[in-house]
Formats: sequence, structure tokens, C-alpha cells
Amino acid sequence: MLRQVFIALSRQAWAYRLILSNPVSRAMAWRFVAGETREAALDAVRALNARGIRATLDYLGENVSTREEAIAAADEAIAELRAIAAAGVDANVSIKLTQLGLDLGDDLCREQVRRVLDCARELGNFVRLDMEGSPYTQRTLDLFRDLRRDYDADTVGTVIQTYLRRSQADVERLIADGSRVRLVKGAYNEPPEIAYPDKADVDRAYRIQMELLLARAHYPALATHDERLIGRAQGFAAAEGIAESRFEFQMLYGVRRDLQERLAREGYNVRCYVPYGTQWYPYFMRRLAERPANIFFILGNLAKR
Ligand code: FDA
Repeated sequence: MLRQVFIALSRQAWAYRLILSNPVSRAMAWRFVAGETREAALDAVRALNARGIRATLDYLGENVSTREEAIAAADEAIAELRAIAAAGVDANVSIKLTQLGLDLGDDLCREQVRRVLDCARELGNFVRLDMEGSPYTQRTLDLFRDLRRDYDADTVGTVIQTYLRRSQADVERLIADGSRVRLVKGAYNEPPEIAYPDKADVDRAYRIQMELLLARAHYPALATHDERLIGRAQGFAAAEGIAESRFEFQMLYGVRRDLQERLAREGYNVRCYVPYGTQWYPYFMRRLAERPANIFFILGNLAKR
């Protein structure tokens, strides 16, 4: 119930203004967001790298409504790729298609993504297309397939959400064409016709698709903080003789730092998703939706200051 409330609030302009103008809620957001500038994000990446954790940079923003904003978002992704190379840090880049103009048309968006991918290819880096709400699932996968004709699997990858009933078939297709998949449970409100309403079904689908990816996919990314599933992945990989170098675990900035560090110490590849920028409001609300107790945890910490 609270989950739906936070996700609904993530789309409300009045709630956005309220939270943005309030110093307490701004301070709360800094648990999940590395800062407002690229430099702040790079500092966070350096600190992660020092602890043996890789990163993926995410310049926050979604659903832009002008061509200029889409171009500016692609410019920022390119600047990220260049800054990563110049700083010599271990990081790649994640982008959202609606931030690069998908609501304004496939052609504009494709053109912007291609600019980013050209830069990634030139620098030998990798860009992941994040997955957004279900109105964009098919369009994202279509655009991704189109891009894969020109860019190899180590230049561009995408994301599959296990809460969608369609996802197993999508996973199978992406495995067949050698694509790199990040597997997540899914962070949006979706109707029961297309998504499993019960968490147990989402978790079961995650386990099945995770094992498929581990067994057959090219360098899958298992993005979850669910310790039971992570343990299961470790057990499955060990039993099937799948080397630790053939996949990675991914987690979010500010969530389960202990687990991220433990897995890195145990020799697994761990990548942390590092968001930054001024457009942190919808991202922050989705993080509260995943674990409403966060709001009490953070308020408690702020009260102790
Ligand atoms: P689950 O929600 O079952 O949580 C398991 C445990 O993890 C909880 O009990 C809690 O301890 C901890 N936990 C989870 N979320 C927390 C939070 N916010 N704060 C504190 N503790 C928390 N989604 C999407 O739709 N499209 C995308 O492209 C991406 N991309 C992405 C990248 C990366 C690297 C990650 C880790 C996640 C995403 N997601 C995403 C989000 C994903 O869909 C999902 O909402 C979250 O990962 C939470 O689900 P878990 O798998 O962690 O399990």
C-alpha cells in the first residue's frame, strides 16, 4: 500500500515542490544520491573503487519534453564517459530512454543514444539502457535490438524486470542474441494483467531467470539486494562451475553497503549504481517505495544530528 503511495507521489508536481524545498527531505535524498554534480559522482566512484567496487553512473532525469533537454542529457552522458576515461576510474554509464527524448519520438531518441554509444565504443566503455514503466518496455527492447545491429554486446546492454509476466520470453531472446542483461525485480506500479502482484511470484521469476542468465548469457548483471537470491546465485554458479568473473552483482548507492563490500571482498564483481544530478525526486521516491521503513530510518538519523 505505502509502495503505491510513494510511486504515485513520484509523479506529483506539488509533492515534488514540497520535497525539493524542504531541507530535511533534501538531506534524506543524499543517502541515495551521490550529489548534484558530475564531480561529486566521480568522488563517490573513487571511494567505491578504493573498496573494490565498480560503478555505473546515472545522470538523473526522465521524461523530458523538449528536444533541447534530450540533447543536453546525451551531452551529459558523453561528458560522463569522457570524465570516467580522464579520471581512470572503473565505471560505465546507465541512461534512460525517456531522458534522451523517447516521448518525443523514436528517431530523436535513437539519434541521441547513438551519439552516446559512438563515444562509448571509441573509449572502450559500456552503456546500459535502464528499463522504465511498462508503456516503454516494448519500445525500449525494439530500440535496443535495432542498436545491437550496429553496436556489440560489450558496448550496449539493457535491463529486464522480473515482475513482468512477459520477461522470461524476453530473457530467452536476449540470451539467444548474446546481449548483456541486467536483471531487476522492477520499480514501477504495474497492473496485475501484465505484472505479478505477489512478491513471491516476482522472487520466483527472478530465481528462474537469474539461473538461465548465469548458465547461458554473456556477462549478466544480477541487480538485487535480496540476500537469499544472492546466496542462491553463488550456490548455483559454484555447482555449475560458472567462474566468478563471468557475471556481476549490482546494487544501488546507499543500499546494503555492507553486502556490497562483503561480496567484493569474497572476490565477486560488484557494481554500484551511482545517481547524481538535480532531478533526484522520482528516483528518491522509488527508493522509499521499495522500503517505506527508510523514511523512519533516515528521519531517526537526522534527529540525532
Ligand atoms: P527487494 O525489494 O525484495 O529487497 C530485498 C532487500 O533489499 C530488502 O529486504 C531490503 O533489505 C533491501 N532493500 C531493497 N531496496 C531497498 C531500498 N530502497 N532501501 C533500503 N533497503 C532496500 N528497476 C527498474 O524498474 N528499472 C531499472 O532499470 C532498474 N535498475 C536498477 C539497477 C540496479 C543496480 C539496482 C540494484 C536496481 C535497479 N532497479 C531498476 C530497481 C529494482 O527493480 C528494485 O526495485 C530494487 O532493486 C529493489 O529490489 P530488490 O531486488 O533489492 O529486492
